[in-house]
Amino acid sequence: DWTTESFIASQVEAIRRRVGDGQVLCALSGGVDSSVAAVLVHQAIGDQLTCMFVDHGLLRKGEAEQVVRTFRDRFRIKLVHVDASERFLSKLKGVTDPEQKRKIIGNEFIYVFQDEARKLGQIDYLVQGTVYPDVIESGTGTAQVIKSHHNVGGLPKEMKFQLIEPFRELFKDEVRAVGRTLGVPEEIVGRHPFPGPGLGIRVLGEVTPDKLAILREADAIYIEEIRKAGLYDKIWQAFAVLPDVRSVGVMGDERTYAYPIVLRAVTSEDGMTADFYRFPWELLERISNRIVNEVPQVNRVVYDMTSKPPGTIEWE
Ligand code: XMP
Repeated sequence: DWTTESFIASQVEAIRRRVGDGQVLCALSGGVDSSVAAVLVHQAIGDQLTCMFVDHGLLRKGEAEQVVRTFRDRFRIKLVHVDASERFLSKLKGVTDPEQKRKIIGNEFIYVFQDEARKLGQIDYLVQGTVYPDVIESGTGTAQVIKSHHNVGGLPKEMKFQLIEPFRELFKDEVRAVGRTLGVPEEIVGRHPFPGPGLGIRVLGEVTPDKLAILREADAIYIEEIRKAGLYDKIWQAFAVLPDVRSVGVMGDERTYAYPIVLRAVTSEDGMTADFYRFPWELLERISNRIVNEVPQVNRVVYDMTSKPPGTIEWE
């Protein structure tokens, strides 16, 4: 019988036996899979594990702090926190094409990762949070590329690590269950999927620090209200998008010319198809009011009522 306890016990055994006194590196993104993998491997080999958290400056409000708090302070995992925001932002300057943005972010991630990994000396193994659907997906290879997905933690091909992939046979829900048994906080275990390129593909068009700041504030309000309403766990993914247009509005007696915010929320089984989420109007109204009142550069809020297909979940 499969239980999280027996899974953890057998993996801890297997990882210890395999690694011996080798050194192990894990690229931590703050997402469910890499987080649970890090804690599991840490349980097996303690300080032989180093986690690397590359902050590309495209994370949500408070996210980097949360990763550091959870892994370094709470789990006492050796954590290298690389603040590479400026490096990514300068590479993204003037770039507006979605696929080009994805490629730049994905490549830059690998460069930063390699640069930093080199500083750590001899590393024998790399931990990856690969889950069963990833294994299946990468096995086909014939599917048309709608968007070039990149996973933070994606493997730099030239690096000669052996892989530790404890979740290769698990589904996401099983990884979550393992995480809960290991004491990974609900905030992380229960969190919605977040794309590798982060807010870089939710700020539409050119990514700038100002736009990122606007989007972070709006997104934080949106998610806070969804949580307060007790709906977070009913939704597969909810997030705000900042389009590259402005519109006219009025506030007090003043004309405004500012950004709209798009709210997106969907239910889904696997992200391949999705239904837009039917919020109660009152909640959308509250969120809209808060965003317009609390985020100065925003004067309008719209809700995306498109399912997938024909829409994709992300806007870029
Ligand atoms: P789309 O927008 O293609 O998204 O309907 C489907 C799911 O995949 C996530 N997504 C990504 N995840 N790297 C990732 O790790 C990526 O580049 C990426 N792009 C989209 C998206 O958030 C949704 O859950």
